[in-house]
Amino acid sequence: MAKMWAGRFTKELNKEVNDFNSSISFDGVMFESDIIGSIAHATMLGKQGIISEDDSKLICKTLSEILEDIKNGNLELDLEAEDIHMFIEAELTNRIGEVGKRLHTSRSRNDQVALDVRMHLRKEANEVMALILDLINAIIEIAKNNKETIMPGYTHLQRAQPITFANHLLAYAAMLKRDYQRFSDAFERMNYSPLGSCALAGTTYPIDRNMTAELLGFYGPTENSLDGVSDRDFCCEFASAASICMMHLSRFSEEIIMWCSWEFKFIDLDDAYSTGSSIMPQKKNPDICELVRGKTGRVYGDLMTLLTMLKGLPLAYNKDMQEDKEAIFDAFTTLKQCLSIFTPMLQTIKVNKDNMRNAAAKGFINATDLADYLVKYGMAFRDAYKISGSIVAYCIENNKVLETLSLDEYKKYSDLFKDDVYEAINLEKCTFKRNSFGASAVESVEKQIELINEFLKSINE
Ligand code: ARG
Repeated sequence: MAKMWAGRFTKELNKEVNDFNSSISFDGVMFESDIIGSIAHATMLGKQGIISEDDSKLICKTLSEILEDIKNGNLELDLEAEDIHMFIEAELTNRIGEVGKRLHTSRSRNDQVALDVRMHLRKEANEVMALILDLINAIIEIAKNNKETIMPGYTHLQRAQPITFANHLLAYAAMLKRDYQRFSDAFERMNYSPLGSCALAGTTYPIDRNMTAELLGFYGPTENSLDGVSDRDFCCEFASAASICMMHLSRFSEEIIMWCSWEFKFIDLDDAYSTGSSIMPQKKNPDICELVRGKTGRVYGDLMTLLTMLKGLPLAYNKDMQEDKEAIFDAFTTLKQCLSIFTPMLQTIKVNKDNMRNAAAKGFINATDLADYLVKYGMAFRDAYKISGSIVAYCIENNKVLETLSLDEYKKYSDLFKDDVYEAINLEKCTFKRNSFGASAVESVEKQIELINEFLKSINE
């Protein structure tokens, strides 16, 4: 097929070069954005008298038909085409001849592709944000049922202090809330139309960039024509938001993998969301979590691809930028896939409350509370900390736990110890007394749920 830019050339393009240059295999997914963008452009050209109203109408009508035909499977993308923009324009000209050739007046593929990517990513971002909200909702539901489920909280993966499973889960809701906000912030910054930047320098035609921006649901036109065609910050921002979100899912996955191991058995995954081993009959593997953890690296790779591709590019458009699509599309596809499978997997876990409670009863998880007890009776925290540490050492040596030491044994370390020490180190007491803002106590967890619900409500308003 002769190239649209063939005029200046005397030879046909080498076949391998054509394939190397072509992007339709991966930018074909933007066909809808491309066509809708072109309809807005043609409408504006007609309204401004740059082309006739009749031509404008015919172009718009035919573009709509092309869109329908692609959607219905009546028109296949031609992989020999250089990219989706050339393909649609060629198809338009095939159908209406001369008139089709007027569409590209005062436009370049440079502003066209910048527009298409933005429009395509708006859709992708909306889908991701909806999936993040689904996961937050799933977390809230499980948290509600586990406000009193005591588990060991860890630091350095060593049992640290008792917490509730609800509080642990709500940490992920807080992370996902930020993820949502990151996507939404990036969306707000991106939602400006580059159309009309043309190749890089704008145009002498009396175009109306505000009109196309408005027709296409943008807040307005981008302010600088060179920036309009060479800005891919939004790809980096989305890939960065996707990377951070994947990192959160990966940490969550890692915990789930541990929790469903025989060593923990805090939860069980539903059979529908785990896999077996080909040789070991007893195995039930958390493959989904492992894949999510693994795919995180791939999304980080997409971010690196984008940042590295842009680094050192002079203004304005350079063909390097064609590489933006595979990276950013992959980041979105991967994240969407991970979120859509992670949420139902989480919704179907079985929480083994007894195992969590039993694990919390070991490991001197209430040693801080023992120190706090002495502080309550007037001792300085550092001294109390030291005494509590010595008592733990004594217990370990004598195979005892804090709950079973006699009052006489306690008194050897300090006269401040009284009968009420047992209540102070009672696991339920020390968990549910931690009622500071954001903590594990039932009322603190309820406050967190209330706040996250308010956030969810504010989105729907
Ligand atoms: N396929 C190209 C891309 O994705 C479209 C823009 C081409 N512009 C150009 N001047 N060659 O970046």
